[in-house]
This record gives sequence, structure tokens and C-alpha cells, in this order.
Amino acid sequence: MAKKMWAGRFEKATDKDVNDYNSSLRFDCRMYRQDIRGSIAHSAMLASRGIISQKDADDIRTGLLSIEADIESGKLTFDSDAEDIHMFIEEELTNRIGDAGKRLHTGRSRNDQVALDQRLYLIDESKEIVEGLDKLILTLKEMALSNLTTFMPGYTHLQRAQPITYAHYLSAYIEMFRRDKARLEQAASRADISPLGSGALAGTTYDLDREAVASSLNMGGVTLNSLDGVADRDFAIEFVSAISIFMTHLSRMSEEIILYSSQEFKFYELDDAYSTGSSMMPQKKNPDVAELTRGKTGRVYGDLVALLVMMKGLPLTYNKDMQEVQEALFDAIDTIKGVLPSFTGMMSTMTIRKDKMESAALEGFTNATDLADYLVKKGLPFRETHAISGKLVHYCIENNTSLEKLPLETLKEFSPAFEDDVFDAISLKTCVEGRSLIGGPAPETVKRYLESI
Ligand code: ARG
Repeated sequence: MAKKMWAGRFEKATDKDVNDYNSSLRFDCRMYRQDIRGSIAHSAMLASRGIISQKDADDIRTGLLSIEADIESGKLTFDSDAEDIHMFIEEELTNRIGDAGKRLHTGRSRNDQVALDQRLYLIDESKEIVEGLDKLILTLKEMALSNLTTFMPGYTHLQRAQPITYAHYLSAYIEMFRRDKARLEQAASRADISPLGSGALAGTTYDLDREAVASSLNMGGVTLNSLDGVADRDFAIEFVSAISIFMTHLSRMSEEIILYSSQEFKFYELDDAYSTGSSMMPQKKNPDVAELTRGKTGRVYGDLVALLVMMKGLPLTYNKDMQEVQEALFDAIDTIKGVLPSFTGMMSTMTIRKDKMESAALEGFTNATDLADYLVKKGLPFRETHAISGKLVHYCIENNTSLEKLPLETLKEFSPAFEDDVFDAISLKTCVEGRSLIGGPAPETVKRYLESI
């Protein structure tokens, strides 16, 4: 085993099991680009402040870039007993460029270094996640625009409630996903400050130019307290919490995809490429993508809870427990990145059974509220008209018919206020078109909304 960089005060080498147990290289190796970027910025600043020579900074930069290229080409692998990615790269650098490599860590600790790497990694990944989210929103928007007049029942308690359109339904999720996007971007922008210069916890006596490092990394600023700079992980908690809320929305939609593609609903027919069969039952076509999304939501919540619990009892500042933060953060990021392409593909390829949606809207007395409202417009009080409409629904159930199929004479038996115009008033089209206030399901309103986003 190579001698540890911190071995000066130790008489014995680290136990082999402890070394493996302690090592984070197998998971933090994914931050090699961010680690190298941070080190190049730090060493350039050290040279500009005269703390190391320009020649050393140049050698460090060249060495680090060659390490990056070799990792990328597969020439350099992570099979090392190094403690973490930071040690791995620094050791490799020193092997390549000699003493200059040993000057890189001047005025820096792994505590501020790892906090920086995690922030940079989170910001890089947030861009990819938001890109995937944008594609999903665009897919739903296109689907909505071609279903402005596709009627379906809206539900409460999973009971048919009032008629809406499929475009209106999809727009509800578009709104949720737009908020998710804003949350992810805001969390990433709050993470976008550099902790370098916090040192191990108490800053450093070197005259570092913290702002220059931050701006060369394109970061929005610097952390303002050195203890907080190394001890804080709420940027990770906030980001995973934004991913969790996003997953909640994907999971609710998944639950509906599972229901709507069942034989009981038949609103959706999933594309063959986005569903799976059964090894035993030949007729089966299963919504695995939606089910996995629902399942993985639990997994991401697990990551969030792990982060919260991990951090809640830690005294300031750095504690090794915090190494575990990375695995939860990475898992949440990997999970959401894994979900998005399949989920969006499933949505864009499935067949929408407009006929089934519309007949479900027609069959469920979803126009009963409009019938009551019709009588209100004829001058009756709503509480009374609500009761009349309820009685009519009961009558229809007994006689196996629907409100709009009742003859006017029958309607008049329940209230003399009914007139010929009732049939138009309770048609699906009128029910939906009449709800044209902001946020309502009227096709024109939904179209205007979709064009505005
Ligand atoms: N691998 C460590 C982590 O991720 C880096 C920081 C180590 N710092 C220390 N004082 N041991 O947390």
C-alpha cells in the first residue's frame, strides 16, 4: 500500500480493511472532472498571488489535463488504494510532474476541496436533468395541443366528477413540471458558490484570492463563513429534495398511466416498445416503465431521508459521516436521469383512446353540476338545484340512463323550470367550453395557456 500523504504522525500503516472501509474512490471517482477543474483554478490563483511559481502552476495544469485525458481514454483507471478521488489525482499528479504536484494543495484542505467538487458536480448534473425535463414538458405540450377538445372525466376520490379535456389534464402536469424545473435551477444556483479558501475549517493565512477562483470556475460567488463552507451540505439536501418533489409528480402521473392503460379504463394503449410481456401469461402487456418510476420515487425519498438523518446530529465542522452524502446525492441524480428518457418516450409513443375518454365522461354524470347551475340561472337557489340534480342522477341510475337522454317531460316532473335549452346546457361541449376562466378547461383557455409557456 502506498504511503498516505498524512502518514507523518503515524507509526503504523492503515489496516487493509480500514483502508477499504474508509475509501470513497469507488464512488467519488465520478467527480474527477470537477476535482481537476477546481485544482487548476486554485493553482492558477496561487501563482497569481506569488504563492507558487508560474512554472509550477503551468506544470500542474498540464499534468492535471493529461490525467483527465488519460481517465477519459481509459488509459488511467481507478484501481488504486487511494483514499479518495482527491488523493488519487494528487498522487498521480506528483508521479507525473514531481515536486510541483506537491505544491498544489497549498492553502487548501480536502474539506473545502470536496465541498467544491460536490457543488460543481451538482451544477453540471442539474443542467442535464433540466434538459431532460424540458423535453418532457415539450412532449406533454405537443400532446396537449393535439387534444384540446378531447373530453375526459376529471376525478375526485377517483370517482368521475366533472368533464375536462385531456389537454387540461396534461397541462396540470406541465405546471407541476415547470415548478420542478424552477426548483432544480434555484437549488443549483444556490449551490453555485465556492467554498475554496475555507481550508480545513478556519480559513488559511495565505493571501488567497477567493473571488478570482470562484469567477474562473464561473461560480456566482464565495461562501462567507469558513466553518459553514466545509460543514454545509444543505445544497445537496435541497437538490435531492427538488428531485424528490419532481419524482412525486412523475409517480402520480405513473399511477394514472398504470390505471388508464388497464382494461378497466382503456384510455391509453402503451406502445409495444415501452411495455413488457409476461413470461407465463401470453395476453399481458405491462406498464413497467410507469411502475418502475413509481417504485424509484421511494428510492429517491430514501436518499433524501438518508441525507437529512446523516446531517442532523453532526457537530461543526467536517465529519467523515459526510462522505456518505455523496452516495445519496449521486443515487438521486442517477435515478432521475435514468427515469426521464423512458418516461418521456412512453408518453410520446402511447395511443390515446379519445373515444374511451369521451364515453367515460358521458357515462359518469359528470354534467350533474352543470344541470344544477342551469337551474340556478333560471332563478332557483343552488342548494335546491343541487338536490334536484341529485334526485335526477338517482332516477337515471334506477332507469339505466343519463341526464342528457331524459325527455323534457321527465325533467319537468323534477322541476318546472327546465326548458328546451337544458340539453345544450348540459352537453359535454358546453360544460367544458363554459369554464373559460383563467386555469379552466375550455379549449380556447388551455390553448392560450399552452401558447404562453
Ligand atoms: N473523501 C472525503 C469525503 O468525501 C474527503 C474529505 C476528507 N477530509 C478529511 N478530513 N478526512 O468526505
